[in-house]
Amino acid sequence: MEQKLVDPMAPLAIPAARGGPVISRLLRTKSIEQILADAAHPDHRLKKTLTAWDLTALGIGAIIGTGIFVLIGTAIVGDAHRPGAGPGIILSFVLSGLTCAFAALCYAEFSTMIPAAGSAYTYSYATLGEFLAWITGWNLILEYGVACVAVAIGWSGYFNNLLRLAGIELPHWATHPPGGPDGGVANFPAAIIVLLVTIILVIGIKESARATGIIVCLKLAVILFFIGVGTPAVNPDNWTPFLPQGFAGVGAAAAIVFFAYIGFDAISTTAEEAKNPQRDLPIGIIASLSICTALYIAVAAVLTGLIPAAQIDIHAPVAEALSMVGFKWGAAIVAIGAVAGITSVLVVMMLGQIRVFFAMSRDHLLSPWLSTVHPRYGTPHYATILTGIAVATLAALIPIGDAADMTNIGTLFAFVLVCIGVVILRYTKPDQLRPFRLPFMPVVPILGMLACLGLMGFLPWVTWIRFAVWTAIGIVVYMGYGLKHSKLAGPSPEGHQTVRLK
Ligand code: ALA
Repeated sequence: MEQKLVDPMAPLAIPAARGGPVISRLLRTKSIEQILADAAHPDHRLKKTLTAWDLTALGIGAIIGTGIFVLIGTAIVGDAHRPGAGPGIILSFVLSGLTCAFAALCYAEFSTMIPAAGSAYTYSYATLGEFLAWITGWNLILEYGVACVAVAIGWSGYFNNLLRLAGIELPHWATHPPGGPDGGVANFPAAIIVLLVTIILVIGIKESARATGIIVCLKLAVILFFIGVGTPAVNPDNWTPFLPQGFAGVGAAAAIVFFAYIGFDAISTTAEEAKNPQRDLPIGIIASLSICTALYIAVAAVLTGLIPAAQIDIHAPVAEALSMVGFKWGAAIVAIGAVAGITSVLVVMMLGQIRVFFAMSRDHLLSPWLSTVHPRYGTPHYATILTGIAVATLAALIPIGDAADMTNIGTLFAFVLVCIGVVILRYTKPDQLRPFRLPFMPVVPILGMLACLGLMGFLPWVTWIRFAVWTAIGIVVYMGYGLKHSKLAGPSPEGHQTVRLK
């Protein structure tokens, strides 16, 4: 059933931005009042069910996954595009963790000031103008959507490992993407797990947060198990040479393992669903990032201490290292934890992507159809199903390294925009209520921006070319759709006043 509704936000649209020169339309911003009022609109409102514990669990659920269980191997050893860090991976984790800490403080200030779905996209809309907000949202598709692709492929790798331990070998063609001498038909397990998660997410966030909580405990237990069992077997000789490829290796690895930290900001995409966002969002973001950083540094130290860096496996490095020093049963436990842990990452990252689509659609930069909420489940089911199908298809067909590099470049760029945005808003809205104020303004955001740009500089040139193409496509889509349909463009016959209700 179609129902006509008068949009309560219409009077708040910026009059100068309606029609007029393109440049003023590109720079139009959405006021914070308007963002919050949109979030409160009954037809687009999400249920408020998440507590500080849920948010921290969601954060850890999003953070610990393919990065630490899979990509750490390539970061230590290197690949065709870049040198490896060797034991210097410990420094890479410190560098990447620091970069994320700066960005996390910016996210905490923003997410408490503007507790609305959409994360960096919404923050950019309030500060940098519609065009850069669109570009941010477009990059968040890399951060969440494409990250889900890499995560699902990592999941499939450990899942196959487990099956092998149980004596079951899936055919090569059914577990590898097409292309190259080693290619198969498609990575079917990766696609299937994505579709299963999609079904869970259509049913509702509370259920997924609860399931995530259980898996998060399991994942933490497995990481602590690895550190506990591995530490006595460490041979300090394996830590020399500490920097086999110098700082170039450390930097290149930092740009890879940045993936391992992505996810703390997914918490801010659920801001509208938090019971007490002002208090709980900073707790969730900062607690989950700190816990994960400490664990990663410990895992990196133990892993590189167990076996010489050159022997580290790139498919299942953490489990394989235990196996190589004789703990076969320990390897099986790690593999089980990795499968469970990576599943929870998939849940939270999918959730992040869906909420970004939801926010962009609510602003009519994407079709309003995507922000329709299911009458019974209270979830944006169309956005969920679309995300699920797109991620499953890509996960079946592309290699993990390509997906991870694209995720990293898009996320780092979105972080740069968040760091800039938080400074701008301090000057343009000095009196806005800020329940969490980041310290040492503007030093922290400036360091955050420089650190993100520095890590981007370590990514391979092929990733930069793909990123440029992705951005160009984004600009075309915006010029063709969002510029005309945006809510800030004023009433339009194509749907601004129409919300589809079931
Ligand atoms: N940080 C998440 C992972 O490593 C995306 O899987």
